[in-house]
Amino acid sequence: MAALMGGMGAPHRPVLLRETIELLGAARGGVFVDGTLGLGGHSEAILEASLDVRVIGIDRDREALELARERLARYGSRFHGVHANFRDIARVVEEANEQDVSGVLVDLGVSSLQFDTGERGFSFRHDALLDMRMDASGDEETAAELLARLPEEEIARIIFEYGEERRSRRIAKWIVERRERGEPIETTKELSDLVGRAVGYRKTDKVHPATRTFQALRIAVNRELEGLSEFVEEAIDLLQPNGCFVAISFHSLEDRIMKQTLRRLAGQCECDPRAPVCSCGARRAVEILTRRPLVPGEEEVSENPRARSAKLRACRKL
Ligand SMILES: C[S@@+](CC[C@H](N)C(=O)[O-])C[C@H]1O[C@@H](n2cnc3c(N)ncnc32)[C@H](O)[C@@H]1O
Ligand SMILES: [Zn+2]
Repeated sequence: MAALMGGMGAPHRPVLLRETIELLGAARGGVFVDGTLGLGGHSEAILEASLDVRVIGIDRDREALELARERLARYGSRFHGVHANFRDIARVVEEANEQDVSGVLVDLGVSSLQFDTGERGFSFRHDALLDMRMDASGDEETAAELLARLPEEEIARIIFEYGEERRSRRIAKWIVERRERGEPIETTKELSDLVGRAVGYRKTDKVHPATRTFQALRIAVNRELEGLSEFVEEAIDLLQPNGCFVAISFHSLEDRIMKQTLRRLAGQCECDPRAPVCSCGARRAVEILTRRPLVPGEEEVSENPRARSAKLRACRKL
């Protein structure tokens, strides 16, 4: 593993690690589900917290899963890795013959492995085919395929909504013009050059102008926001009383879904107050443990820039 990681620098310290382990109550033992195993950093700390801990680690990325399996092999049968989408958590837990789940964690977004492996096409820092699929073994469309197929308005919507990019319509127009000339975007460099020219560099830019467009496409390719709320409900249904759910988000839309879903599951009705009956699905299933989301301190951010936009929300099953 050390050799495999060699070219990519040391793996990052998992985001908000101490807070996550404390909130999950891993030291009390039990079965924990890590829905976003990645390189297994959080899972390793959960396994270290007590000899009575077992972890089911899920990742849709086979490459990450293999590396995490190697890293966690020394825990033997206490760790069980599964290639799946965390949205299938109920099935995964059932197939692992577990019932009483003590805690569920998701640390959303891309891993440093995905981002730093140039050939996966997540980053404009490496020229590669514009792929961006977290599950490269599946038959989902790549980012290049999406850009070759979607109508201009849809490309603009994705870049605006998921990338919070003000110049989304101009970027989409340029992409579609190129495609109509018979030169569809195929590589990361083609896309970052196009966005750079469409948007231009401003002196105030702290990041490359293509950053927002790349983020937006990644979210669309991997359907990162779809079914997130339903996943949280299922995860909480699996928890035993007092079990905890912890979610770390990196995007405002993800964090908003987490916030609203947890509120609804804490029984806060969001219906129009004049409505005769509640139809939003509010029920009192959990107590929210983070009235405001936890964020990393300055020290963590300076060590790990990826932590900068992290927000952690947690709740306890009643
Ligand atoms: C930020 S990384 C997790 C890092 C991990 N906590 C660690 O300490 O190494 C996110 C991981 O979640 C995976 N992932 C994202 N969405 C997923 C989903 N819906 N189902 C399964 N895995 C997912 C990605 O493939 C990636 O490996
Ligand atoms: Zn309601």
